[in-house]
Amino acid sequence: MAFPPAVDRREALAGHFLFRHLREAEITALLARSRVEHKRANELIFRKDSPGHGLMAVLSGQVKISMLSSNGREVVLNIINPGEIFGEMALLDGKARSADATAMTPCELLIIDRRDFMPFIEQHPEVAIRLLAVLSERLRHSSDQVHDILFLDLRGRLAKALLRLAEAHMRTPIKGKPIDIKLSQRELGNLIGQSRESVNKQLRAWQNAKLLRIERGRIVLLDIAGIQAEADFGPSVE
Ligand code: CMP
Repeated sequence: MAFPPAVDRREALAGHFLFRHLREAEITALLARSRVEHKRANELIFRKDSPGHGLMAVLSGQVKISMLSSNGREVVLNIINPGEIFGEMALLDGKARSADATAMTPCELLIIDRRDFMPFIEQHPEVAIRLLAVLSERLRHSSDQVHDILFLDLRGRLAKALLRLAEAHMRTPIKGKPIDIKLSQRELGNLIGQSRESVNKQLRAWQNAKLLRIERGRIVLLDIAGIQAEADFGPSVE
């Protein structure tokens, strides 16, 4: 099984927004309570409504957060990139998982169990405040999604989704590495509530306009400003 190179756990925790302000000894204490798990591409990490046992941080790879309708249709709520966390909702309220989590690529996850993390939060209230910021971000993201689904047509929704997915690459650009999105066209459709066929039609129009290139299993963005213009000026559905 091919996994990406192991990420330094201490570096990942100490550099994370939630823990950046902690002293070295506190990071050491947290590390002692954490463990690393590897997941294969397409492996289920947890299912919606299962008991939530802990907080997860993505060290490497990508995780899909999704839900299934009763007839098996998938809606993708979010894609979690390296350096981001998920599983904080069940961690905080002690209830069941609010969505499915699946490894999209081989993943390395850092996991801290609820029974270890809750006492840590009680001793470090700043971490709780930072977790509130994570929750606010989730809410903003969900509100944006509702807005886009109600008010934007496919063109605007798809352009915005591509820009959001490219954000992680743009934050830490690697010279010479193209800005690519490794997501199937079906998954892109599930992210914006549209069929794979409609997504494919729009992507091909943008490929003809040289905004992007469609490759096997990925989309390479060639003209970010052009895609931004599509997101800004795509007609809205009133
Ligand atoms: P939890 O409910 O523990 O397990 C599923 C996780 O998916 C959840 O915590 C959040 O981390 C994440 N999640 C749930 N709903 C959304 C959403 N609407 N947008 C982004 N992330 C979500």
